[in-house]
Amino acid sequence: MQKIVIEGGGVLNGEVPVSGAKNAVLPILCATLLADEPVEISNVPNLHDVTTTAKVLAGLGASVEIDTPRFGSGRESVVLVDPRTVNSHIAPYELVRTMRASVLVLGPLLARYGDAEVSLPGGCAIGSRPVDQHIRGMQALGAQVSVDHGFIKAGTAGRLRGGRVAFDLVSVGATENVLMAACLAEGESVLENAAMEPEIVDLADCLVAMGAKIEGAGSSRIHVQGVERLHGARHAVLADRIEAGTFLVAAAMTGGRVTACHAHAGSMDAVLAKLVEAGAEVIVEGDRITVDMHGNRPRAVDINTAPHPGFPTDMQAQFMAMNCIAEGAGVIRETIFENRFMHVQELQRLGADIKVDGHTAIVRGVAGLTGAPVMATDLRASASLILAGLVADGETVIDRIYHLDRGYENIEEKLSGLGASIRRIG
Ligand code: UD1
Repeated sequence: MQKIVIEGGGVLNGEVPVSGAKNAVLPILCATLLADEPVEISNVPNLHDVTTTAKVLAGLGASVEIDTPRFGSGRESVVLVDPRTVNSHIAPYELVRTMRASVLVLGPLLARYGDAEVSLPGGCAIGSRPVDQHIRGMQALGAQVSVDHGFIKAGTAGRLRGGRVAFDLVSVGATENVLMAACLAEGESVLENAAMEPEIVDLADCLVAMGAKIEGAGSSRIHVQGVERLHGARHAVLADRIEAGTFLVAAAMTGGRVTACHAHAGSMDAVLAKLVEAGAEVIVEGDRITVDMHGNRPRAVDINTAPHPGFPTDMQAQFMAMNCIAEGAGVIRETIFENRFMHVQELQRLGADIKVDGHTAIVRGVAGLTGAPVMATDLRASASLILAGLVADGETVIDRIYHLDRGYENIEEKLSGLGASIRRIG
């Protein structure tokens, strides 16, 4: 099994390109099922989750062409999906199990073909993550939905009909799934208590390019006027705010100066504010975000994760890594997922001082971490271990990095380009 080996202690300096957002491209790829013509998606990150989504689409009968240029070639990666050959409406357990976002084919299949069978995603390391809001949303649009033998089975006799969907809680995935379904429903739909993440705005932009009529994406109330068909389109995926944030935290932790290029600062307010609080100078110029730490040690910050525009849960582990070596102590409260502190034990193996009480972790900064073998437990936990390894004394070996490959494109190349000593073995 592959591992990542990091020799800690270097200061990171330079420019790093930010890829397209994982959490935007996955729903957008699923949205191509709604069209009756080919859809071309560019700025697609080369990630395992993208490959898995392509397999789900291909399994449904769609033709999927992925053009991934070599890292550093300067060419954009493009995916072309032709949904006209779709001949199955079943997303099987083998694929959904490995990537929960596969559940996002439910809305498109149901709206376009009146029929969808999607395996229940089941448990996941960071929490139980039910799909009740997705199901209730489809029912509010007139679908019959049952959960049978581990499958969500959804059907509708004619077209879905527009309706009012008031979510009980803010869910990114449920908002996306219902938004996609509502695009082809008859009449108007209103989504209340919708998630406001930038990736939802990007999905809506792509749907509008395909001919959908959507207003209010990015706010808590989204209006959709259903249309009879969606056509082909071209769409470039938004920059990944989590990837960009991870590199900027690396700059803050190592006392360096890093510029994230092709980034989208407008989607990163909460994260950039916390970096300023930690003592970083943050400079935003167009699509370039620079963090300059001027050789200083960061100050510990308190974090409460919350739906957008609050602090993203996907950056919690990285800021915990920063607090581990910061001056002072920081309190981190995770409010989105019940079991998202699995990186704590691994960070402790590197010498971190962290106490967990339920959903709260108190992190006291220590003068230095020491390299050790550690194990990645989920995607963002892996990122936190890389960050900790970058500042730890000696060698850190990270096992189970397949988690990392789900969400970070060419991370060794990108960090090496900033001066890190990092390599993949095995
Ligand atoms: C998405 C992101 C993930 C991010 C998360 C929160 C993608 C592919 N993934 O995941 O990286 O960490 O948003 O920002 O975009 N919930 C229910 N019932 C439901 C749906 C969700 O109770 O039907 C709960 C979940 O268990 C969780 C909370 O709502 O506690 C938020 O989950 P949700 O926003 O749906 O996360 P995802 O869309 O799965």
